[in-house]
Amino acid sequence: MTAPHPTIASRYQVDGDKPAYLRLLFDRGAPHYDRINGFGFLWTGGLYRRRMLKRAGLRPGMDVIDLACGTGPVSRAILEVMQGKGRVVGVDPSAGMLAVARESVPGAEFREGHAEAIPSPDASADFLSMGFALRHVAELESAFREFRRVLRPGARVLVLEVSRPRTRFGRFFARLYFRDILPRLTKLFTGSNDAREMMSYYWETIDACVPPDAILAAMRAVGFTDVVRKTELGIFSAFTATAP
Ligand SMILES: C[S@@+](CC[C@H](N)C(=O)[O-])C[C@H]1O[C@@H](n2cnc3c(N)ncnc32)[C@H](O)[C@@H]1O
Repeated sequence: MTAPHPTIASRYQVDGDKPAYLRLLFDRGAPHYDRINGFGFLWTGGLYRRRMLKRAGLRPGMDVIDLACGTGPVSRAILEVMQGKGRVVGVDPSAGMLAVARESVPGAEFREGHAEAIPSPDASADFLSMGFALRHVAELESAFREFRRVLRPGARVLVLEVSRPRTRFGRFFARLYFRDILPRLTKLFTGSNDAREMMSYYWETIDACVPPDAILAAMRAVGFTDVVRKTELGIFSAFTATAP
């Protein structure tokens, strides 16, 4: 069993407290998330998400689950790629995030839930996405087993993540931007300490996350096939797989 990262004792005392800590963190950060996603990534996030979804095999007419949907940026990109044909269900444990998503992505349905217990029937989806949230699950294999439960045979999975760069040079710039610059910019542009905390935690979990090979191994261990990781700029990872 693989935890995505060790306990972060400065944030929560024991792993059992992590879901409650995260719910509060993301509820408080939710009103600011879309703005941070904009300036923090130079307004390229929509294009990147659409590109990765298409490359992973998303097609019009599919039944899609967007896990850890947050405020809905991946759900919105899914609707755009499917051009109004198909169905998107966004799932997230944070009521604050879901409230923003329901306002800003009217074409999707949103449900409260989490990766370990997806509120969807067995074998009901053709595609499952999870954007920048794998670090938040309790344990990789049980989350991936739950992905399998809700997917039809042959369905596709796309997990987007920010990964710790492999080179010292890459790590230096990632740390500089995500640890030192982005939380400060967040405070400057939003005026919110909660939003700054959310972005400080973002880097802490990226830095502490298990290596991408462990994620690939966990996907294969629960039976996914065609398990592949593609990276861009040495830091943006797209993990794709097919349900058996
Ligand atoms: C950084 S946001 C990602 C939002 C969006 N997917 C995106 O692409 O920007 C991380 C989201 O993961 C959610 N989350 C935290 N723990 C989770 C869990 N165990 N299962 C599913 N989602 C979780 C949070 O509530 C938050 O909305």
